[in-house]
Amino acid sequence: MNSNEVKAYSNGKKSGVKVFVAGSYEALSKKAATILAGAIANKPEFILGLATGTSPLGLYDELAELNAQGRVDFSKVTSYNLDEYYPIAPENDQSYRYFMNKNLFSKINIDIEKTHVLSGLTKDPEGECKAYDAEIEAAGGIDLQVLGIGNNGHIGFNEPGKDFIWGTHMVELTESTIEANSRLFNSADEVPRAALSMGIGNIMCAKQIVLVANGPKKAQAVKEALEGEITPYCQASILQLHPNVTFVLDEDAASALTEYKEI
Ligand code: GLP
Repeated sequence: MNSNEVKAYSNGKKSGVKVFVAGSYEALSKKAATILAGAIANKPEFILGLATGTSPLGLYDELAELNAQGRVDFSKVTSYNLDEYYPIAPENDQSYRYFMNKNLFSKINIDIEKTHVLSGLTKDPEGECKAYDAEIEAAGGIDLQVLGIGNNGHIGFNEPGKDFIWGTHMVELTESTIEANSRLFNSADEVPRAALSMGIGNIMCAKQIVLVANGPKKAQAVKEALEGEITPYCQASILQLHPNVTFVLDEDAASALTEYKEI
């Protein structure tokens, strides 16, 4: 595939799931940014759900570029991030608040007061989670939620397990996530053992979802999410039931798909 190409894939079934495969990470990021920019243009007082991780970094760069060109306006946008480590201070350069300020908020014309990230320092995590859910609901719900996907199929910090958890909650991180995320810390010992995360209900209630995934390490999780049975052991598999979800992948992340083919 040409590096700037993006192709639509389908499994031939009618569903709310759309899949695009891009010839490069840049093309993937541009495609995702175009979807976001179009949605925001239709509703300036947009409620945007955001994700951290390395996967959406290119998307955030593209959004900053489009914003600089005056092609997308964030001045009336309100954002809610999916998750935050616990405990962690917002000034810690590994916190998701720090990540968002650095990689997106400082580069676009969003009002920082309208950006929300769960507090990694709260003394009352349960109260913090309840207040977050109430605030999102009062805002009218999330218009579009950006997602990455963990190597183990997690979305946000909803780890594989026997249940889908509905609302925002405290999570104990799995060893595989601690290990995967340790690449961004000095060592695995420094990775917080817990996090606060929106639940599967928060994600599924978003009116639209855009999931970005790249690289061969995501191939299995993407396959299970799109073609596997719907099970909490692959939390992202529930997205198959969402009425408007778009997976934007690179060829590596799409490489294990067998039912989805180019159309
Ligand atoms: C983290 C985040 C997720 C993210 C995932 C993948 O644990 N909580 O929201 O999607 O990891 O990260 P990356 O995009 O760096 O592979």
